Amino acid sequence: MNRLLLFQPVDLLDVSLESERVRLQSISDAYAPEIFREFTEEITRYMYPAPPARIEETLAFIARVREGMQAGSDLGCAIRARESEEFLGCCGLHGKAAQRAPELGIWLKKGAHGHGFGREAIARLARWAWEQVDFDYLVYPVDRANVPSRRIPEFLGGTIFKEGLVPRMNGGSLDEVVYRIPRGALTQRFTSST
Ligand SMILES: CC(C)(COP(=O)(O)OP(=O)(O)OC[C@H]1O[C@@H](n2cnc3c(N)ncnc32)[C@H](O)[C@@H]1OP(=O)(O)O)[C@@H](O)C(=O)NCCC(=O)NCCS
Repeated sequence: MNRLLLFQPVDLLDVSLESERVRLQSISDAYAPEIFREFTEEITRYMYPAPPARIEETLAFIARVREGMQAGSDLGCAIRARESEEFLGCCGLHGKAAQRAPELGIWLKKGAHGHGFGREAIARLARWAWEQVDFDYLVYPVDRANVPSRRIPEFLGGTIFKEGLVPRMNGGSLDEVVYRIPRGALTQRFTSST
């Protein structure tokens, strides 16, 4: 796992980011019950992982992400509604394979779909990355058929640079398209006044 190239030291276990309607907060065990309940078969339809059968699997997932945060390779966040504090889902930035090309990921619970919270959360996380992390481009892999998700990197100025079939954890495969969102596209997005 590659470390994120932070411009200055950041405690990734204690990040809190706000935008108009959502708050992103470093993931912790406190979110296990909601993640366990909401990360369902339907939600994972276009994702690599399978839904957890037992809450211990969710706790193990959180522990893995927090290890990565401790090591400086990942930032995993829970997403909450800013006003009501309702749990909405999770998102993350991961050092993964290429240090200068960290990967974004997101899922929202079913009840939170359809309001553009996904775009808002990823835009906030991408802005944090743009400010705090040295990278050439962010990577956003997504199944070709997952239109609401594809709209997110497209909004941020991403373009497809890789395609292919990727096996899923519990069988089957994803027909993946991988977007690249260059730092320059984010600079344009985050500094334009429109
Ligand atoms: C991906 C995800 C986070 C997006 O959720 P969201 O923010 O609620 O997305 P929305 O429903 O608001 O839709 C986003 C955009 O897609 C468009 N859209 C949604 N469904 C669509 C469809 N069937 N056809 C065409 N456009 C569609 C919306 O109109 C909206 O367009 P806009 O950006 O121009 O406003 C959410 O669908 C999710 O959690 N899915 C399950 C997990 C998952 O697949 N994660 C991504 C893995 S790559």
